[in-house]
Amino acid sequence: MKEVTEKMASVQPHNDASTTDTLPVPTGLTAAFTLKGVRQVKAGITVVDGIELAIPHGEIIALVGPSGAGKTSLLRLLNRLDDPVGGEIFYRARYITQYPVQELRRKVGFVFQTPVMFPGTVRDNLHVALALSGEPGQDADKRIAEALELAELEPALCDRAGDRLSGGQKQRVNIARALMTAPDVLLMDEPTSALDPETADRLMETTRRLSREQHLTVVMVTHRLSEARRTSDRTIVLERGRIVASGSTTDVFGSTTNPRMRAFLDSEK
Ligand SMILES: Nc1ncnc2c1ncn2[C@@H]1O[C@H](COP(=O)(O)OP(=O)(O)O)[C@@H](O)[C@H]1O
Ligand SMILES: [Mg+2]
Repeated sequence: MKEVTEKMASVQPHNDASTTDTLPVPTGLTAAFTLKGVRQVKAGITVVDGIELAIPHGEIIALVGPSGAGKTSLLRLLNRLDDPVGGEIFYRARYITQYPVQELRRKVGFVFQTPVMFPGTVRDNLHVALALSGEPGQDADKRIAEALELAELEPALCDRAGDRLSGGQKQRVNIARALMTAPDVLLMDEPTSALDPETADRLMETTRRLSREQHLTVVMVTHRLSEARRTSDRTIVLERGRIVASGSTTDVFGSTTNPRMRAFLDSEK
């Protein structure tokens, strides 16, 4: 523990001038996450390769890049679904491993590509968040009603069986479930990939509203570049486990001159 504390002291502040590769955090914003030299290996292959990154609090970050670039692998590290083989990850200026996992996952929610539905009603599906996070769930009904409202689901859906919802509604239930524990961060892995474009757009509008009104940090993997462009404040482009571009979404989409990157970013308008 002492060693860890010393190590932490030695790397602060995070915007130290020596870490020039790190995405700079705009003045006045706290980093939700800081990654230093983060590496992940799967089946003997390096899939996340020395990532240096600061993710500012309260913004929407789009993580884009070709299939197999390591987007999901990177996202999974941020609430310890996996741990990296190398490097350091800080959540709110503390080593991510210093938080008890349940506490971390209360604060950092994960929405999977394919919505995860538990047996039972929508209410059951939301209630499970409290059980999983080890919370007593005293005011559960009130919290369920609030989460439904935040995710823009009708209160009447509460008693509907989870398997009788549309794809878009299921994904909203997954978002509502993540919101049950009043998180600081939502990690979303291609949350709209199974949805029709209109439903996807509405879900992204909800995400923007949540980010603004709940001061949520959102890290969102998307293969829809137009969605990244419209929804996010910042964009990170990953290729073969490395960051090949990062910055404000306007800058990343607007000013990249690298022809290969340009072709990728222009591949969908
Ligand atoms: N559980 C796993 N076992 C072995 N290889 C994996 C596993 N998960 C992902 N990979 C490989 O790691 C690389 C990155 O995958 P992933 O992070 O899922 O990429 P992306 O989300 O950008 O499509 C790919 O080459 C993929 O095949
Ligand atoms: Mg993926």
